[in-house]
Amino acid sequence: MDGGIRENDISRIVDLDRAHIWHHLIQHKPFETGEPRIIVEGKGMKVWDQNGKEHIDGVSGGVWTVNVGYGRESIANAVRDQLVKLNFFAGAAGSIPGAIFAEKLIDKMPGMSRVYYCNSGSEANEKAFKMVRQIAHKRFGDKKHKILYRERDYHGTTIGTLSAGGQDERNAQYGPFAPGFVRVPHCLEYRAQWDLSGEAYGKRAADSIEEVILAEGPDTVGALCLEPVTAGGGVITPPLGYWERVQEICKKYDVLLHIDEVVCGLGRTGTWFGYQNYGVKPDMVTMAKGVASGYAAIACLVTTEDVFDMFKDDPSDPMNYFRDISTFGGCTAGPAAAIENMRIIEEENLLQNTLDMGERMINNLNTLSEKHSVIGEVRGAGLFCGAELVQDRTTKDPAKEKLVQAVVADCMTQGVVIGATNRSLPGLNNTLCFSPALIATADDIDHITDAVDQALGRVFS
Ligand SMILES: Cc1ncc(COP(=O)(O)O)c(C=O)c1O
Repeated sequence: MDGGIRENDISRIVDLDRAHIWHHLIQHKPFETGEPRIIVEGKGMKVWDQNGKEHIDGVSGGVWTVNVGYGRESIANAVRDQLVKLNFFAGAAGSIPGAIFAEKLIDKMPGMSRVYYCNSGSEANEKAFKMVRQIAHKRFGDKKHKILYRERDYHGTTIGTLSAGGQDERNAQYGPFAPGFVRVPHCLEYRAQWDLSGEAYGKRAADSIEEVILAEGPDTVGALCLEPVTAGGGVITPPLGYWERVQEICKKYDVLLHIDEVVCGLGRTGTWFGYQNYGVKPDMVTMAKGVASGYAAIACLVTTEDVFDMFKDDPSDPMNYFRDISTFGGCTAGPAAAIENMRIIEEENLLQNTLDMGERMINNLNTLSEKHSVIGEVRGAGLFCGAELVQDRTTKDPAKEKLVQAVVADCMTQGVVIGATNRSLPGLNNTLCFSPALIATADDIDHITDAVDQALGRVFS
């Protein structure tokens, strides 16, 4: 083990962790008697914990991030070389990897043209919200300042992004939130709000966005922020007809379309970006997790040239530019890692692999649903899949969260890491989530779904 820590020091690390670390998203009382999990090492699709136990990672680092897998020396080398040359300079200046990655990124995003660097998905979304507010101020006498967001979507953990948070359980206890954010209905046909199906449902769900715009007043609505495929809100793939209608509505009411690609970006659905599955032309796109697969912290807000132009059209006005900074947006490790990450995706043909392996995973899960009636619906795009668990297929009563978590725990015992929606929607934290690295092989996919098969058998027997 590196860093001067000997293998047999690991129990000391566990003690230090228990004494001082405040883990993310977890209740700590059990650590007073039990051990927190410490992940020590990763290679390819596998990680090892403090006890040396091997796991296959079905969720790319827990939160759909490590798209190209663990242990990529070429990324580490690119970052190391860049750090000794220049580690940081504030983002009012440019950098060599920043410029090179921007060109490569824009090349994958026809219609887009400018890259704003920062360092988390939440932050990138905040930047987009600030741009919408400044455009409203400059162009529309402050009127077009409202930002629409969708029920079940998530855009980040800050108070600003939680104000655009469509997951009531995640938001609970953190209010009051910022004004000027307005919710639109979700588009999950399995939990349909209208007695319609297929394309008719998709169009109706999109029409409900128009209804909100009309109710609020189109001259007050500046932007619509959506995930292309909703992630933590239940792996919701959009119904047919939805996105076409969304695009029409945004155009009709001069509403900027902001797509949150923090999870889908950089290959997760088998295309570079999730929105590219649906022929959408966004005005703003945010991305983070997979941009450098977690080898460095990097997030981007990418805009069209039209959006960019709105911030430079009057240089005589000292307030007429985007007066925003992100200190660590000036770290060069991010774009250096991102360049290499993108090269790997291209050279190893990982988009195609994502489509092929995604299809295998969906097929495997569908086969499991023939055997386990607790699986109500299987959804997914590329290597981004979900299985919604129900008590009864007819009533669709959600499976109890404790049992859903028991499936996750059983898989963990088998050495397979999977995820489930949690603390997201009251009573609806019932979707198992799968997002293995884009390098997954057929054996990896089968290994993961075999573990789920066994876990479902044990938990719901
Ligand atoms: C769709 C989406 N947007 C934004 C975020 C926030 O990203 P970060 O945790 O990097 O701030 C997340 C995180 O899970 C996400 O899933």
